Amino acid sequence: MELTRRPRRLRTDGIRPLVRETEVTAADLIAPVFVDATTDERQPIESMPGHERVPVEEAVARVEEIRETGVEAVIVFGIPDSKDDRGTRAWADDGVVQEATRRITDETDAYVITDVCLCEYTSHGHCGVLTSDASERLEAVRSSGTIEHDDEDPALTVENDDTLDLLGKIATSHAAAGADMVAPSGMIDGMVGAIRESLDAAGHENVPIMSYAAKYESAFYGPFRDAADGAPSFGDRRHYQMDPANAREATREVTLDVEQGADVLMIKPALPYLDVVSTVRQEYDHPVAAYNVSGEYAMLHAAADRGWLDLEAVAYESLLSIKRAGADLILTYFAEDVARRL
Ligand code: PBG
Repeated sequence: MELTRRPRRLRTDGIRPLVRETEVTAADLIAPVFVDATTDERQPIESMPGHERVPVEEAVARVEEIRETGVEAVIVFGIPDSKDDRGTRAWADDGVVQEATRRITDETDAYVITDVCLCEYTSHGHCGVLTSDASERLEAVRSSGTIEHDDEDPALTVENDDTLDLLGKIATSHAAAGADMVAPSGMIDGMVGAIRESLDAAGHENVPIMSYAAKYESAFYGPFRDAADGAPSFGDRRHYQMDPANAREATREVTLDVEQGADVLMIKPALPYLDVVSTVRQEYDHPVAAYNVSGEYAMLHAAADRGWLDLEAVAYESLLSIKRAGADLILTYFAEDVARRL
């Protein structure tokens, strides 16, 4: 047999680095930070080993720890001191994200991105204002403790257009506090355009928007919802987040965000949706971000704890795969661990 094509020729140790197509660097990574207005002490997040909710006073110290690993960008999530039906603490000037952002941007050189959503701030845990129908259902939950909600039409839960005004206020308050970039995550129709308009009207035309452009209604967000105390108190998010079965729909979603002025396009989750990352990479010129979510992190930790996987190796391989699929930026709970070893 005459074998002339031998791909193994390029796999010797000397040449592997020269022909490597993909690289992960600390500059690609964005580390999530949870700031909690209800605590004076750092609180470990059980289902996300190595991560904590920190009080506002510790936000700068937390960000410095991240920067020491070489990661320069953070995304800030807030747990407010109180919640109400409209999530008013989300756009308060003295809100948890606003206070933390002010300190972080005053005292560090980190690039600060803020998550713009209502679910951590509303007493019902949905990502927007409830419709009157949904409010009635909420009252029923509150008075009886339970509700038969699964047969209700979920499209009626969140009032889309009333929510847009609130998202604009939140984003503007974050920018006023010094946020370098805002990242709307609610999957509310028109959110990017509404936020762009509010930011521009307030003189923040240079603050970019990283849209959670194709965000799926995923079961991989479980640990995050514990961490950020943002689980819906009734129903679920399937009426605003995307159906995991749909890939072509992602293109339509992303196109809308591009038309409304999104600067960076995010796909979320990452690993189970690499087909979507790849398609968005091919179809748009914009920077593409992927969110390697809490469940993707927790499952590797759980398996490593049992001795079933090598944590360092699978964490790195995960991030490499997300980049190979086409992501330029990766939001990941592994940011510090991976960056430290690069
Ligand atoms: C808020 C938000 C969520 C996540 C990021 N922003 C939760 C959700 O949509 O339920 C999930 C992040 C993760 O799981 O790591 N809307």
